[in-house]
Amino acid sequence: MHRTLARPAFDVETVRKDFPILAGHVWCKPLVYLDNAATSHKPRVVLDAIERFYKEHNSNIHRGVHWLSAAATKDYEGARDKVRDWIRAAAREEIVFTRGTTESINLVARSFLRPRLKPGDEVLVTEMEHHSNIVPWQLVCEEAGAKLSHVPIDDRGQLLFDEKLLTERTRLFAFVHVSNALGTVNPARELVRAARARGIPTLVDGAQAAPHTRIDVRDLGCDFYAFSGHKVFGPTGIGVLYGRKELLEGMPPYQGGGEMIKRVTFQKTTWNDLPYKFEAGTPDIAGAVGLGAALDYLGTLDWEAVRAHEAALLARATEALSTIKGLRIIGTAKSKASLVTFDMEGVHPHDIGQILDQEGVAVRTGHHCAQPVMDRFGVPATTRASFAFYNTLAEIDVLVAALTKVRELFA
Ligand SMILES: Cc1ncc(COP(=O)(O)O)c(C=O)c1O
Repeated sequence: MHRTLARPAFDVETVRKDFPILAGHVWCKPLVYLDNAATSHKPRVVLDAIERFYKEHNSNIHRGVHWLSAAATKDYEGARDKVRDWIRAAAREEIVFTRGTTESINLVARSFLRPRLKPGDEVLVTEMEHHSNIVPWQLVCEEAGAKLSHVPIDDRGQLLFDEKLLTERTRLFAFVHVSNALGTVNPARELVRAARARGIPTLVDGAQAAPHTRIDVRDLGCDFYAFSGHKVFGPTGIGVLYGRKELLEGMPPYQGGGEMIKRVTFQKTTWNDLPYKFEAGTPDIAGAVGLGAALDYLGTLDWEAVRAHEAALLARATEALSTIKGLRIIGTAKSKASLVTFDMEGVHPHDIGQILDQEGVAVRTGHHCAQPVMDRFGVPATTRASFAFYNTLAEIDVLVAALTKVRELFA
């Protein structure tokens, strides 16, 4: 394990000092950043690791015999080990670096699912998926003449899962661990177990779960798990696909190019070993280094304390927002991550977002790349305030005060 010095207790004000952007020196007023589900901020150690890589080790990896290339390779492969440890994968070969969750899912759709998919087959997703966990399956289903089905959700934004939805034609069950549009935390282990009992492979979209909880892919039992570096306090442009080794071994490459081959002739090319078979071309080396540094950083936090702090943020926001006239929280599942999505009677989310911005509060408005969720709740768009462990209860109060102002303006 790469776990480093654990801090004695979780102190949000101390943690905030690790994030240069939160110091607000470039802003005329304090930044109340509540758009963490879109992307989260980066601690100084991540910025430093990237800078150090470019200043001291910058080189292309794997192929070079010179020491700089060896140092860069060590950095990159070291980051892979950190990811393996962080998500408790069995082997480093099971960690494929991608551009992010979206690319991870596309890789599985193209390389794992497409060759197996026949006319009349089915792929099961849920009604609360991000478009990234709908469209890649839709594309291959259309090509193969297969059907995309979904698990419906109830009025609170919880899955109405029925094992009958897993049929003998189901070739994959892909579902989101934590919904970006509702905050719902799905019972991933139970869903995986139900699929496994029928021999159906599973992919878990962990883009919104990874920033809020420790992931253990072996405990979950899933076949694939995807997440993005930029949502776990690392850089943009890097992400992870975890895949069980036996499955990755049997899958053809996703993209062709350098690095993913063993031997190329005009007659035949043979593929490199795992995970390089899936990493064609020069990867985002600095991105991987930054992601490794982010995971090191997360390893210094007391995760029980993080969970308790985020639960307190969610509770304060839910309680206070519920008192604002005409405000409806969309997504009231029993188990929720720290985000609140809502609409306000008579006010367009875009106007809410703009007024909040004037008050120094950054939230996200729109369909959150989850249009089926918007359709389910009969709204074109919502406003979403999403919290990270560096947010404070005082920031929730600023949000509530700003929303009260919106209410008064549109009264
Ligand atoms: C649940 C979920 N899945 C997938 C994605 C796509 O992530 P990325 O854009 O980093 O590939 C997101 C991004 O917001 C998300 O929230």
